[in-house]
Amino acid sequence: MTPPETPVSERPASETPAFDTTPLDLDGLESELLHAIDTASDLDKIEEVRVGAFGRKGRIPALMQEVGALPPDARKSFGQAVNRLKDRVGEALEAKQQALAGAALAEKLAQERADVTLPVRLGPLAEGRIHPVSQVTDEITEIFADMGFAIAEGPDIETDFNNFTALNIPPEHPARQDHDTFYFPEGADGARPVLRTHTSPVQIRTMLARKPPLRIIAPGRVYRSDSDQTHTPMFHQVEGLVIDEETHLGHLKWVLEEFLKAFFGVERVKMRYRASHFPFTEPSMEVDIGYAKVGDEIRIGEGDRWLEILGCGMVHPNVLKNVGLDPERYQGFAFGLGIDRIAMLKYGMPDLRAFFSADLRWLKHYGFAPLAVPTLAGGLSS
Ligand code: PHE
Repeated sequence: MTPPETPVSERPASETPAFDTTPLDLDGLESELLHAIDTASDLDKIEEVRVGAFGRKGRIPALMQEVGALPPDARKSFGQAVNRLKDRVGEALEAKQQALAGAALAEKLAQERADVTLPVRLGPLAEGRIHPVSQVTDEITEIFADMGFAIAEGPDIETDFNNFTALNIPPEHPARQDHDTFYFPEGADGARPVLRTHTSPVQIRTMLARKPPLRIIAPGRVYRSDSDQTHTPMFHQVEGLVIDEETHLGHLKWVLEEFLKAFFGVERVKMRYRASHFPFTEPSMEVDIGYAKVGDEIRIGEGDRWLEILGCGMVHPNVLKNVGLDPERYQGFAFGLGIDRIAMLKYGMPDLRAFFSADLRWLKHYGFAPLAVPTLAGGLSS
């Protein structure tokens, strides 16, 4: 704000220079500067006025150079008069500058006012989605970790020995044909590496690397040359393996039942064990889970429909021998479960192929918020 300026004619006589200031017209200069200050409309203009008055080539320094030309007795009172002029102009400048800065800030604040009723713009963290397969894998590992299982891993490209031979599937065994295996060219040892056709080779890796007691699960990708509405050439399994000295079929059934109840969040599940055959287990079983279909909704634990969800059995003595364990002392169970399949069942996703078609609309619909990490304490599928 500009302070009211004192008209030159009203100034006390003591401030009036006691000599003829013509052509050094101090009053004229002052009212000219004060007028310029008064009419400056923004911060740039006021800065121009300041430079014009006080700058190195400004009007006031120029005035001071004139002092030398004055008679000695006039210099003092002229110098004082110039100082008073400097003070008044300086004060007026500062006041105007503050007023303009305040007005500029007020205007900026008015323009940048936030409308708190506008919808929040979502950032990348809120937009991104976790794929159902990743989410369900986390749910599964969370449940088994709680039962004391450790996580084991193996590579997607496996040796023929780990994927087949050590699992009691020797060369020429018909089970090799069942798996629709993707083979690589022969290596130096004459064997062909494969894209693993199941997660069971992780059993072999684990038993070769560590001594019992063993309790592991191994989730991961597996590959078979197969493709239709319920089969894709790449899909996901989770392998389970328990080896100890007194492990029996009752343990296997308990573990699977506890797992399925926790996974589907139900009090009880209907399970059906069917005799089956896998070269690496004896006896071998396939497990079906009972469900009802009410409209589009699938209800686990009720109804009279059955869906096959996993293969399991007691580890075959030949497999134990192949990894150097004594079958007279050790035994255990193994199971293999299709992750994609139980994800479809739990979250009502009808077409397996959509899982891997990278369709953003599908992922937005079925995917999970990044921070919805499944925990037993916080809820598996919140
Ligand atoms: N590996 C078997 C499959 O892919 C499943 C399985 C695992 C069966 C472990 C028994 C024991 O079909």
